[in-house]
Amino acid sequence: MRGKFITLEGVDGAGKSTHLDWIAGRLQAAGKKTVVTREPGGTPLGEELRKLLLAQPMHLETETLLMFAARREHLERVILPALAAGSWVLSDRFTDATFAYQGGGRGLDLGRIESLENWVHQGLQPDLTLVFDLSVEEAERRRTVAATAPDRFEQENLEFFARVRSVYLARAARYPQRIRLIDAGRSVIDIRKSLEEILAILCL
Ligand code: TYD
Repeated sequence: MRGKFITLEGVDGAGKSTHLDWIAGRLQAAGKKTVVTREPGGTPLGEELRKLLLAQPMHLETETLLMFAARREHLERVILPALAAGSWVLSDRFTDATFAYQGGGRGLDLGRIESLENWVHQGLQPDLTLVFDLSVEEAERRRTVAATAPDRFEQENLEFFARVRSVYLARAARYPQRIRLIDAGRSVIDIRKSLEEILAILCL
């Protein structure tokens, strides 16, 4: 039986990384073979592209094409084979991030992103996307507390992240079957309760 494909999304600082390992643990405890991966990245070439994308200034269309180039490899070498083998795939970001960051944040026409999505995905969509939603002010505060050197995206201003967030919210409203919004302003325990309920519907 084909596995399921779950993606995690949200503005930088919303806390998705905190919950990723926990979700993987829940899936494994439920007996699912689980592959944890991330975008941009997830393959040797994808990780090389990630280094460039997070550090190197480039044209917005170059940035978008490299995101999809990394994604093409990722689908071919990791995501599709794992799903076909019955594993569950948990990816830290996927194409919703391109709509939110390159589309919302940087202003690329969403129709162009849709064209690339149709080309690269070949019909695949996540079975479930969890969007960790948080005010951009609180997300920035958390990023400051984390105090890691900010990458090219994390250096953007609050207006950028407000546009990123608004695209995530719009997509959650447009695809309510697939995308579930998680109020990330709550305690970790409360967030886990919500995650538990959502995962239970899917599988556990
Ligand atoms: P992120 O997933 O936040 O990793 P970390 O927690 O290690 O910082 O970093 C990836 C960055 O890449 C993030 O700022 C969003 C950005 N990104 C895009 O702009 N478009 C995309 O399509 C993807 C997948 C990521």
